[in-house]
Amino acid sequence: MANPEWHRLGPVAALKQKPLQAVTVEGVPIALSWDQGRFGAISGRCLHAGGPLGQGTLRDGYVVCPWHGWTYQRETGEGEPGSTDVVPRYLLKEEGGDLFIDLASATHPRPASHSPHPLARDPKRADGPLRVVGISTTVMDRGAPRYSTSEDLLRVALEAAAAEGAETQFITLNNLKFRACEGYYSKSANACTWPCSITQMDDKDELTTVYEALVHWADVVLIATPIRWGNASSLYFKMIERMNCIQNQITTHDHVLIRNKVAGFIITGGQDNVQSVAGEMMMFFGELGFTFPQFPFVGHSRGWSAEDMENNMAAVKADQELRQGTRALALRCLEQARRLVAAGAGPARTERGGRKAN
Ligand code: FES
Repeated sequence: MANPEWHRLGPVAALKQKPLQAVTVEGVPIALSWDQGRFGAISGRCLHAGGPLGQGTLRDGYVVCPWHGWTYQRETGEGEPGSTDVVPRYLLKEEGGDLFIDLASATHPRPASHSPHPLARDPKRADGPLRVVGISTTVMDRGAPRYSTSEDLLRVALEAAAAEGAETQFITLNNLKFRACEGYYSKSANACTWPCSITQMDDKDELTTVYEALVHWADVVLIATPIRWGNASSLYFKMIERMNCIQNQITTHDHVLIRNKVAGFIITGGQDNVQSVAGEMMMFFGELGFTFPQFPFVGHSRGWSAEDMENNMAAVKADQELRQGTRALALRCLEQARRLVAAGAGPARTERGGRKAN
């Protein structure tokens, strides 16, 4: 057993004032707790993603990590019943009214027993034909579906891609039940994890389908949105807020999840603002790591004064030029993807560098 290394933490009377606190001794973070007449000291670093345990809360004798809620017994460091995770625990002693900790008494951690989420595997393109996923972000009553101009054009694009030999997948975001981003990034950049914190915590959250398609499956992603008050649909924003975890991997781990992939956009609105919506979408998907073909979007709008929406639907259905333009977008995206796939791994370094501006 190593020789003890006692370090003074401070007066017992003062340290008793807080049920849980973060202290650092010789650079080692400690979660120091006081409950039921006894101190406890365990590592201050969560095994999941390094969350600061001393800044968490105490619940039934367990320290609850403030980032995603993993728990550790406050005196032994053992994870919740049923888990084999253990963080180091430390011996304490009281002497002359002061509390001391023995850093040499740290027990060995047992790494997280939670098996990695399937999305956590390294993105690696599987051999086979080019793959195109179309994501419709239109919101509608699931029980009473209606005609959607953007969704209609997305189908046109996917049919064109399939006719070129691509595998296609159609995702109707409106049919997926998923939580809005809960702002783990706002706690700490490292608290916004890949896979998404919500995805890891909630196996009922259905955005996994989208992550799987974007990060692991598709070579081409086509996003279709209506324009709502000059912006993309609310469902589009709900989806992309959850994609902060993809971009954040670059910030926190210099880990680029999206490589050699192409994005294109289909934007339709009764009124105008197509270019502004396209600009926002291109900025975001560019930040994720997607590339774009020449002329990366098709848009349709009959202008500010066109309130006769029934005619708008009829116009889109009948507009052969628009439909041909949509097919052409799909083919441009495929051509770009074909070049990227043929180039293999692509440039040796595609890391973005710098930090994002959100
Ligand atoms: S639960 Fe602690 S870092 Fe995620």
